[in-house]
Amino acid sequence: MVINRRTRLSAAPEVPVIAEPGPAASSPPTSVAAGQPQGRIRTHHLQQAKDNSERFAMLTAYDQYTAEIFDEAGIEVLLVGDSASNNVFGNETSLPVTVDELLPLCRAVTRSAARALVVADLPFGSYEVSPQQAVATGIRFLKEGMAHAVKIEGGSFYAESVRSMVEAGIPVMAHIGFTPQSEHALGGYRVQGKGDDGQRLIDDAVALTEAGAFCILMEMVPAATAAAVDAAVPVPTIGIGAGSSTTGQVLVWQDMAGLRTGKLPRFVKQYADLRSSLSEIAKAYAQEVRTGQFPGPEHCF
Ligand code: KIV
Repeated sequence: MVINRRTRLSAAPEVPVIAEPGPAASSPPTSVAAGQPQGRIRTHHLQQAKDNSERFAMLTAYDQYTAEIFDEAGIEVLLVGDSASNNVFGNETSLPVTVDELLPLCRAVTRSAARALVVADLPFGSYEVSPQQAVATGIRFLKEGMAHAVKIEGGSFYAESVRSMVEAGIPVMAHIGFTPQSEHALGGYRVQGKGDDGQRLIDDAVALTEAGAFCILMEMVPAATAAAVDAAVPVPTIGIGAGSSTTGQVLVWQDMAGLRTGKLPRFVKQYADLRSSLSEIAKAYAQEVRTGQFPGPEHCF
């Protein structure tokens, strides 16, 4: 039987949705029967994970096949990150990417993920001006991008924007700590919330949560600060370079799959070397084309 995408969407894959904490390699994740949604993962399922001291996984995705594969693998949250800027569009930083560039990627991911909660990043310049601008952009991502939630970078200064978006029916994930869109203001890629500065992040997280954020994402924050933030807010937290106390973890998929070159941030674990694999198959293909081995008779009409 040919399994097409429509067949797959109607038959939800049998995968654990929320994994218990623990070393994945030695003990496979156990599904949490009580909290395991059969359909779409919703923000309240992530809240359940926090309430039950369980963990969930988030990866970036920017296209149909990665969305399908990660969704079928049981990744609970897919992020259409503004990291598309420097992982899809060839820019050096996340700053240049636009709403109009991200929207089609977002639609592709949402159409291709049967279960995952799809979160879209609001790119730099699309929400900072006013709460009204944030609401207008958030609406575009839910309406045109078909996202289920949005993420914005920044601390308590954006609490009003979060409140306005939530009141408009837009679930908001708040990203604090190192916020790549502010790399010039922050003086480069630097760990945030060290020592006494940790209190600033706790205050940010509390303000954003009180404004209605359903989740706090922390990037490049000392593990102890992230643990204190997690303890200070009732909502789930997600970490990237923020230790192991958060409810979820997120990585950029090209980092964790080994597509990226150059020096990796300390928080990245590479689970494969896809760059070498793709390079090898591209060379094998080119060689067969040059020698006339491909196409063979079985590929010809
Ligand atoms: O855009 C992105 O990939 C992100 C992650 C670093 C969390 O915001």
